[in-house]
Amino acid sequence: MAEERVNFGSKIGVILATAGSAVGLGNIWRFPYMTGENGGAAFILIYVACVFILGIPCMIGEFLIGRHGASNTARAYTRLAKGSNWRWIGYLEVLTGFLITGYYAVVSGWCLNYIYASIMGELKGDPAYITSYFTAFSNDPIRPVFWTIVIFGITHFIIVHGVRNGIEKASKLMMPTLFILLLVIVVAACLLPGATKGIDFLFKPDFSKVTRDVFLGALGQCFYSLSIGMGCLCTYASYFSRQTNIKTSAIQIGLIDLLVAILAGLMIFPAAFSVGISPDSGPSLIFITLPNVFNQAFLSIPVIGWGVALLFYALLSLAALTSLISLHEVNTVFFYEELHITRKAGAWIVTIACCLIGAICSISIGQKSSMSLFGMDLFDLFDFVTGQLMLPICGLLMCLFVGWVIPKQIVKDELSNWGTLRFSFYKLFLFTMRFVCPLCILAIMLHQFHLI
Ligand code: PHE
Repeated sequence: MAEERVNFGSKIGVILATAGSAVGLGNIWRFPYMTGENGGAAFILIYVACVFILGIPCMIGEFLIGRHGASNTARAYTRLAKGSNWRWIGYLEVLTGFLITGYYAVVSGWCLNYIYASIMGELKGDPAYITSYFTAFSNDPIRPVFWTIVIFGITHFIIVHGVRNGIEKASKLMMPTLFILLLVIVVAACLLPGATKGIDFLFKPDFSKVTRDVFLGALGQCFYSLSIGMGCLCTYASYFSRQTNIKTSAIQIGLIDLLVAILAGLMIFPAAFSVGISPDSGPSLIFITLPNVFNQAFLSIPVIGWGVALLFYALLSLAALTSLISLHEVNTVFFYEELHITRKAGAWIVTIACCLIGAICSISIGQKSSMSLFGMDLFDLFDFVTGQLMLPICGLLMCLFVGWVIPKQIVKDELSNWGTLRFSFYKLFLFTMRFVCPLCILAIMLHQFHLI
């Protein structure tokens, strides 16, 4: 079975495609803000520790399940669980991926609209105008749905071309472009007058701000940013060849994700501080605060001024698209393998179903009063249920599964292939999956519900 499966064609394809899944909106709309608010360089140090102590081991765990299972996430777990109830983790991961896809696509669609708006000059105006533009747009029943369908169209197109000709090729093109765009905007932002204040804010370590909340925040961000617990890593790993070194790949992907997050900070803070606007996080950062920053910081620069906003939304759309592709793939491969249909048919099921979920989420924002559950509109509800509930639960179960259930020989084989496995590394990995990661994830969950 492992031999029959399509593989990524090259090492760089493995890294870029998987890093594409990890690098997404989380790197740009959340990490910079959390860093600035939580002690600058002190937060970065904690985050780096989280990535190495927890994030990378969890990635390795998902990779080894995926490569050994050599099939969709649900079946990979089923194979390893040998009939026990542990197999349900795979289904839960696929379901989480499915639910997140629709809502992630809505925000990705917003990014596309903002590309269009910056080309058409619709984003020029005072802060009140920018806020009302965003409110009017996100509450509109039609336009966001249109853009959600457009982004699904692009994703669908890439997915139906398969693993090598679709996902790998697209990632090889999009990820380097993303880096170039990011670097161009970072340079433009850092050259602005007064930019050093922003750089200081981002990097000046302030250990007095480091509290328990900061630790838990860094942990949660690390899981989300590395796409852990949603079947994406497991699915992509099922396309790794036997030659792929799981350990080094996980380290490289973790570092790329971290680099993009820090560069995003170097793009946002210098620009914001140079015009005296204090940045916040989430949708309001990228769709309200930043258009204002761009207007005030760059618009006076002749010729290139208006282009910075355009480049920024292009960057954001690329980051979102590569993550969306990985989410789509988790479900596509699930449907086509489990229902024994073609890849194309599987992709259509996902595209249509997720377009519907996306449309409902999007419309619910404008219809808060009539379409809400537990006091949240469906958009926020999806965000909460998937991001804060299902994701940590899947992550926790995955660690326990790798640490306690999978036969040790399989873990050893997967880790040692194409490289000697040092005994100390294996023991450390097992200890992390058995105790360290589960306890940390449990702490994040209890903290989210204000229980600690
Ligand atoms: N890692 C992505 C980000 O940083 C989010 C994501 C999570 C994407 C899980 C796919 C799967 O935005």
